[in-house]
Formats: sequence, structure tokens, C-alpha cells
Amino acid sequence: MADECFGHPRLAAIHDPLDPDRGDLDAYVRMAEELGARRVLDIGCGTGVFALLLADRGIEVVGVDPAEASLDVARGKPGSERVRWISGDASALPPLRVDLATMTANVAQAVVAPRTWQETLRRTYRSLRPGGHLMFETRVPARRAWEEWNRERSRRVTDVPGVGAVESWVEVTDVSLPLVTFRWTYVFAVDGQVLTSESTLRFREREEVEADLVAQGYAVDDVREAPDRPGREFVFLARRPQAV
Ligand SMILES: C[S@@+](CC[C@H](N)C(=O)[O-])C[C@H]1O[C@@H](n2cnc3c(N)ncnc32)[C@H](O)[C@@H]1O
Repeated sequence: MADECFGHPRLAAIHDPLDPDRGDLDAYVRMAEELGARRVLDIGCGTGVFALLLADRGIEVVGVDPAEASLDVARGKPGSERVRWISGDASALPPLRVDLATMTANVAQAVVAPRTWQETLRRTYRSLRPGGHLMFETRVPARRAWEEWNRERSRRVTDVPGVGAVESWVEVTDVSLPLVTFRWTYVFAVDGQVLTSESTLRFREREEVEADLVAQGYAVDDVREAPDRPGREFVFLARRPQAV
């Protein structure tokens, strides 16, 4: 089941306007270009922002996400017909041989259950051509990002075209490391509707992720910084080795 903020139609529709600065994706576009990727699988593609950035560059993209409402938003965007959208998680993937698989914006943390995480890495490996790469980010646990997820810091009112003013804020409801649970609240001024969305993220240590990757057969080529969030994210670049 998708979290409400991605899976509820009214919330999926305001996802992009509430998070308009996607400068976080610039580094991923550069890495895709650096790797010369021509076919990309975007896991947890959400409303399709990254998938469409790649498609605009002539890259063949498959986007997969379990949140049908987010996929509907993606499908409604200009150029969306150039992307193959798949509803589900990595277990829904058809046979693919992509050059690169991505999980932008901390999708990896949203895959909470260890078995689902292992299965995601395993299925993704099978979707890569030999020599193909997987890149994704996950927040550095020691930076304790959740300590900033409170109403005082996060509350804002956004004027969304065609929707009106939306007040939103986030509050942490439980910290049971490595799991952190939080709730977003959205208030729509036009009709007073209040919607909430609860999410849990898993904060994994660098060594744990590296071990998970190696256990599924990947070689870990690099662990980088996210240039826009120095010290706050591990950005993993792993590779399916060439067949020996
Ligand atoms: C923070 S959003 C990021 C969306 C997109 N990658 C972006 O950069 O805009 C996290 C996404 O992960 C998706 N997600 C959650 N669990 C997933 C899973 N097991 N497999 C694939 N995607 C998942 C959610 O539905 C949501 O769309």
C-alpha cells in the first residue's frame, strides 16, 4: 500500500507544487550522462519528474512505482508518452536489460522491510545488463534528519494553481531506530478538507547497504556525496559485474 502522500489522488496532485525545487536531481542527471546510459529504470518514480528529465534527453526510461495516483500525475505530463510507466514495485518488472537503475529522493529508505529491500536489490540486479549500474541515495543516520521534522520548521502555506492555498507540516510520531515514523498534515483552504499521511523510513548505515549490495552480487564502485546536501546523504554507485 502506497503512503497517502503518494497514493491519494488529491495529495499526489499537489506533490510537485509543494516540492518545486528539484535541484537534488541535477547530480543524478549528470551521473546518468557520465555513465552514458541510454536505457534507465527509475524505481519509485513517483510523479515522474526524474524519468521525464531523462526522457527529454532522448534516454529510454521505464518508471515503476506502487502509487497509482502518482503515476496518474506522471502520465498527465507533457512528454509522458515517451516513458513506460509500470504500477507496482520491483517485483512487477518485466525482463529488462537497462544500463542504469535509479532510486532518487530516498526511495531506498521507503523500502522498509528487509525482505522487500533484498528483493528490490535482487530484481533490480536482474533488470541490469552486465556492466550496468544502480545508483541511489539514503540519508546518513548520524545526521538525525528527523530532528528537523517538526511543525515549527516545516509549516508553510503554498498557493497551488487551480487548487488554492494548502497548509502543510510534518511531525515525527515515533523514533525506533533504524525506523522513523512521521505524519504529514495538509489543510485545503478551499473546502477545509484535512488529509494526513503517515510514513516510515529505514535509516541504514553505509556498511549495511554495502553488505546488502554485495550479498545480491553487486560491486560497489563508489559512495559519493549529494552535492546539494553535503554530509547528509550516502549516494551509492553499484554495478552488476560483467559476466565472467
Ligand atoms: C519521496 S518519493 C520519490 C519519488 C521520485 N523518485 C522523485 O524523485 O520525485 C518516494 C517514492 O517511493 C515509492 N515507493 C515506496 N515503496 C516503494 C517500493 N517498495 N518500490 C518502489 N517504489 C516505492 C513511493 O510510492 C514514492 O513515489
